Amino acid sequence: MKGIILAGGKGTRLYPLTKAVSKQLMPIYDKPMIYYPLATLIEAGIHEILIITTPDDLPLYRRLLGNGSRIGCSFSYKEQPEPNGLAQAFILGEKFINNDPVALILGDNLFYGTHFIEQLKKYATYDGGMIFASKVSDPHRYGIVQFDSNKKAINIEEKPTHPKSSFAVPGIYFYDNTVVKKAKKLKPSKRGELEITDLNRLYMDEDCLHVEVLDHGTAWLDTGTIESLMEASQFVQVIQSRQGILVGAIEAAAYHSEAIGKDKLSDLAEELKGTVYGNFLKSLIL
Ligand code: DAU
Repeated sequence: MKGIILAGGKGTRLYPLTKAVSKQLMPIYDKPMIYYPLATLIEAGIHEILIITTPDDLPLYRRLLGNGSRIGCSFSYKEQPEPNGLAQAFILGEKFINNDPVALILGDNLFYGTHFIEQLKKYATYDGGMIFASKVSDPHRYGIVQFDSNKKAINIEEKPTHPKSSFAVPGIYFYDNTVVKKAKKLKPSKRGELEITDLNRLYMDEDCLHVEVLDHGTAWLDTGTIESLMEASQFVQVIQSRQGILVGAIEAAAYHSEAIGKDKLSDLAEELKGTVYGNFLKSLIL
């Protein structure tokens, strides 16, 4: 399975913070935001990844992440000149996806939980579409899924004014190879975007959209507002200092998912010698 990270957009809701620098490069505690979704994909065993971002920001991502070979992965890049919607990722990524299934993760979504990674691995070969649902207190901000009494997803709406449930769809999506064809069928919504929710509805219409409720052990944080950005940093700080681990360390994710072995990890730890980050990588080898 291949992976796409969407790290474009204008980040206007966080201005002036994101006026000169891409939102997904903002720090979440001690790492750039994109490290967290990237580590999630890598940990789930998805090592071939396309990063989609704006023409202005693309060189910065390339400088930060390179071609991925440093951590046994392959990273490529594609420009999205205008934020025309999440589903455009599959049109821009058509060549990259080729004949494979693909996972999309939003560059500003953070997931934490070991069981979650196991869940993701299970869906790496899923036939159809697979999304998650998680209860939120502010459903009008998200894609919202409605279930019937048998817990079957029956409807999905983008940012509804009168939400029919409080189950939001987090920014991680798994699709079979028909996703490119489906994305090309979409028409821009009222706000002028190719909506991921409309894409999910196409899968739902064919009765091949699976919706899995996130278990309570999985934390999902998004960073759409200044408050949630701050909360995400605090969350990472608390987990890291209590558990003595690093959340979102891409080198550790590569090691756990066998993209690199002990020798390589040891070299990477040496490169980062003298930092908390480097010490943590070293501790994984001992
Ligand atoms: O966070 C989960 C939610 O993400 C879902 O519940 C919604 O269904 C989905 O539409 C999306 O809603 P948002 O309002 O959070 O989407 P936003 O426009 O903020 O875009 C999410 C990220 O993707 C953001 O970091 C910018 C990036 N992006 C967005 C668009 C529209 C792009 O890179 N390109 C784009 O064209």
